[in-house]
Amino acid sequence: MTKIAQPDHPIHDLLTRRWSPYAFDDRPVSKDDALALFEAARWAASSYNEQPWRFVAALRTNREGFERILSCLLEANQQWARHAGLLALGCIRTTFSRNGKPNRVALHDLGLAAASLTFEATARGLYVHQMAGVDLDKARQTFNVPDGFEVATGIAVGYRKPEEQITGDYRERDTAARPRKPLHEFVFDGDWESPAAFLD
Ligand SMILES: Cc1cc2nc3c(=O)[nH]c(=O)nc-3n(C[C@H](O)[C@H](O)[C@H](O)COP(=O)(O)O)c2cc1C
Repeated sequence: MTKIAQPDHPIHDLLTRRWSPYAFDDRPVSKDDALALFEAARWAASSYNEQPWRFVAALRTNREGFERILSCLLEANQQWARHAGLLALGCIRTTFSRNGKPNRVALHDLGLAAASLTFEATARGLYVHQMAGVDLDKARQTFNVPDGFEVATGIAVGYRKPEEQITGDYRERDTAARPRKPLHEFVFDGDWESPAAFLD
């Protein structure tokens, strides 16, 4: 499978197997899997243990709920995300409940929760494709998101189509290379952009 990461240094198998497919195969995600994904998200670290993440989520077996989330995605994302087995919107509480001050790392914490959800999914043979392409105003209105909370991302989870069954544009995308910056471009010490000593 061309999509499996070819790391420069050995990493856990779960990390190499994760990638973001476009061609989902309509198979439903089970309730048990869905529970496990959000349980995994629940145990993520967060600043002051605020747990600022919130999710609006529906299994594709819940047609109405699934369609409501789907309708909040940008058109290009709707095209492929409609074949996922579970859709979610990742949201944040923008202030700390302990003192009402802005939580500048809430989005970071949502990302951690989404990462936990993603690797739990990978371990279960599921794939996750996250999206910035969400109609935020529509999502806010559709789900009555109150002040103090923001919709941030879309999350599609499902089973991917085997390569040989994918047609058109998505086949190209789902077999494309996965370019990555080398470590020395983003791990520094001393001066900015000076590669960290341990990279040698
Ligand atoms: C926060 C976030 C937003 C993304 N937004 C979109 C999106 O709106 N549409 C899309 O097709 N892919 C989106 N992606 C998927 C990225 O393009 C993908 O993760 C990246 O190209 C790396 O590929 P890989 O996940 O297969 O390693 C997003 C990923 C993340 C983490």
